[in-house]
Amino acid sequence: MQITLTRPDDWHVHLRDGQALATTVPHTARQFARAIVMPNLRPPVTTVALAAEYRARIVAHLPRDTRFEALMTLYLTDGTPPEEIRRAADSGFVHAVKLYPAGATTHSDAGVTDLQRCAATLDAMAELGVPLLVHGEVTDPEVDVFDRESVFIERILQPLLSRHPGLRVVLEHITTSDAVDFVAACGPEVAATITAHHLLYNRNAIFAGGVRAHYYCLPVLKRESHRRALLRAASSGSPKFFLGTDSAPHARKTKEAACGCAGCYTAYAALELYAEAFASVTALDRLEAFASFHGADFYRLPRNTDQVTIERSDWQAPESYDYLATESLVPLRAGEWLRWKMLG
Ligand code: NCD
Ligand code: ZN
Repeated sequence: MQITLTRPDDWHVHLRDGQALATTVPHTARQFARAIVMPNLRPPVTTVALAAEYRARIVAHLPRDTRFEALMTLYLTDGTPPEEIRRAADSGFVHAVKLYPAGATTHSDAGVTDLQRCAATLDAMAELGVPLLVHGEVTDPEVDVFDRESVFIERILQPLLSRHPGLRVVLEHITTSDAVDFVAACGPEVAATITAHHLLYNRNAIFAGGVRAHYYCLPVLKRESHRRALLRAASSGSPKFFLGTDSAPHARKTKEAACGCAGCYTAYAALELYAEAFASVTALDRLEAFASFHGADFYRLPRNTDQVTIERSDWQAPESYDYLATESLVPLRAGEWLRWKMLG
C-alpha cells in the first residue's frame, strides 16, 4: 500500500548548531518543506540578527538540490524588548517567539523567570500577530513531574491568555488529555503541536525491563489514557492540532549517563512514525491535514504544493548516526523495525 500526500512541515524541531547540522539538516529537509527551528542554542537565539546568522549556518548544510525553508524563532527572555518583536515581524524569516520557563528543559536557563516582566513584549506580539510558542511545564520542584503540564495550564497559561487577549499561542508538544481539552476549548488563536513519540508510546516505554534513556524527553511520556487522548486529537480533523516532531538530538554518551539529557531523535523517520500512529487508529486519511495543512494555516503561510509518498513496508532503523564529528546519535527505535517508509 502507498499513500501520497502534500509535503508536510515540522512545526517544532531542534536542529542544534555547528557539526550537528551535518546530521540533522539533511534528515529534516528530506521529509519536510519547512520547519520551525527552536532557538535553545548556547547562547540562545535571542535577536533577529542572531537568527539570521543561525539560518545561514543551517542553509549551508542543505544537500544540493534540496528545497527547504528554515522558519526561525526567537528565544524569549525577561529582557526581550518590544522593538525586537517589530524587527522579527518585519524580517520575513522569524516566524515565532519561544517561551521556555527558566529551568524547564534542555538549555532553558536563560528562559523567562516571570512572564509579567514580558508584558510589553507580549502586547507587541499580540498586536503584530507573532505567535508565542510555549514549553508548557511549571518548574516548581514541588510539583510532580507528571503533573507539570496541567499545572502550567492552570497557573500560567490561562492567566496569560486572560492578560493578553488575542495573543496567538501554540502549546508545544502536548502530552495530556488536560492540554487537549484546554486547547480545544480555546478560540482559534490557540493551537498545539503533537510529537510522534507521544502518539506512539506511554510512560511504560521508559521503564521496560530497565531505564530506557532514549525514551526520556520533556515533557515526559504520560500514561496510556493521555496517549489515547492525543491520538484522538491528532486524528480528529481539528485545525488546532498539527505536526511538531520535537526531534531533539543528544550525543549517545550524554543520554546514556547517570543524569541523561531529555530528548528523542525522530527526524530521520518522522513521517513514518506519524503514519504508524495514525494507522493504529485507522485514521491514515486524516494524516495529511495534520501533517501538511493545519500548521501552515495557523502560521498564515501557503500550503505546500509538492508531494511525498510513503509505503507500507518494514525496514530496520539504524543503530546510530554519526554526530558531532566524533560522537554518535541513537535515534528513537534504533535497531528496531519501522512499518512505513518514505520513498525518494
Ligand atoms: C529538548 C531539547 O533537547 O532541546 N528536549 C526535549 O526533551 N524535548 C527541549 C524541549 O523541547 O523541551
Ligand atoms: Zn522542543
